[in-house]
Amino acid sequence: MKAHGEITPPVDKSISHRAFLFGALANGTTRIKGVLESRDVMSTAKAVQSLGIEARKDHEDWVVKGGTLREPITVIDAGNSGTTARLLSGICAGIDGVTILTGDSSLVCRPMGRVITPLEKMGARFLARSGRYLPMAIQGGSLQGISYDMEIASAQVKSALLLAGLSASGTTTITEPSKSRDHTERMLAYFGAEVAVDGTTIYMSPGQRLQAREITVPSDPSSAAFPAVWAAATPGSSLLIRGVCINPTRTGFLRVLERMGAHITVENIREWAGEPVGDIQVDGGVLHATTIEGEEIPTLIDEIPTLVAAACLAQGRTEIRDASELRVKETDRIAAMVQGLTSLGAHVDENDDGMTIEGPVQLHSGSVRTFSDHRIAMCLHILAKAFDIDVHLDDPSCVDISYPDFFSSMETLV
Ligand code: S3P
Repeated sequence: MKAHGEITPPVDKSISHRAFLFGALANGTTRIKGVLESRDVMSTAKAVQSLGIEARKDHEDWVVKGGTLREPITVIDAGNSGTTARLLSGICAGIDGVTILTGDSSLVCRPMGRVITPLEKMGARFLARSGRYLPMAIQGGSLQGISYDMEIASAQVKSALLLAGLSASGTTTITEPSKSRDHTERMLAYFGAEVAVDGTTIYMSPGQRLQAREITVPSDPSSAAFPAVWAAATPGSSLLIRGVCINPTRTGFLRVLERMGAHITVENIREWAGEPVGDIQVDGGVLHATTIEGEEIPTLIDEIPTLVAAACLAQGRTEIRDASELRVKETDRIAAMVQGLTSLGAHVDENDDGMTIEGPVQLHSGSVRTFSDHRIAMCLHILAKAFDIDVHLDDPSCVDISYPDFFSSMETLV
């Protein structure tokens, strides 16, 4: 089935989380325009309120009155959101007192050692289930800046350390193995902090105070990826996706689709709150297989399931490698995609760090498990649209994590 028309996807989840957290830390009142009240973003809004910060709705906007963060009197529940749990760990490491963090049945299985280890080096203390999982208690206080070489390219870890570094004495220097999304660095600069970036190393000097700003959040490229892939891989489609964040650390999936032969143009480029924004025109065609690996992976980590859908429609053998991080997302996304595609009749080879798809695959209608993972659910729905088959999802409501009106929005493109 072809996709045609225009769509404005929900606003960016990563930037929305950061807008609440930066607003809480800044001097003055931050106004956030166009917040998407998805489950994940609301977990961060509630967490900020638990730290004694006023964060409330004002007509269509949210306003956050920055101030001194207080030791919370209740347990903070980050729900399904890894970004909330990890970025908040960095902030709470600098709060004098104890914070107890937990999450839902998926989040309590996701690794927290990656933030615990460096934050302990900065001077915070952690008591975590099995040493590395939620629930965990953080004893925060005065921190010391560190020089830290990250083992994995993770924007959540990098951001936790930069947020901790804001209240630390001494410079914080972080080096990533390859560049992950840089919304935190951009928002630090937008809120008046001095951050120096040299390749994959970030330097932040101590004692910086943030100044509140107005933030308009662009549409989420990860949400845009679903209709983009549907349109790009079905000949005769024509779709305009408006107001999307086109930060290059997020748009690896567009570069891959272009490499696969997709017809994509980005128009009307502007800047909102330090982030580049554009309208993306996608015209459908026949795609060709590609290899997705190496330094490209962090720039499209959340879009890999969607690119697997593109590979199912493309001609030839697509290989995805170096993507073992997918195994510790909201669910094991490699296993979930392989199982979903297998139940619809495709044969996919699974590897430890990726998979191989020989396209175009033949798919039939069927029932699939989402593992309550929003991106798996949306990806399987896009496959249903592109292949024009009926796919029954066991938990369609999980799309509320990032794209509450996903199903009705996709219907407008038919
Ligand atoms: C995010 C970073 C990525 C991404 C997640 C959002 C962020 O996680 O997968 O959906 O907002 O910083 P990692 O840092 O674990 O790669």
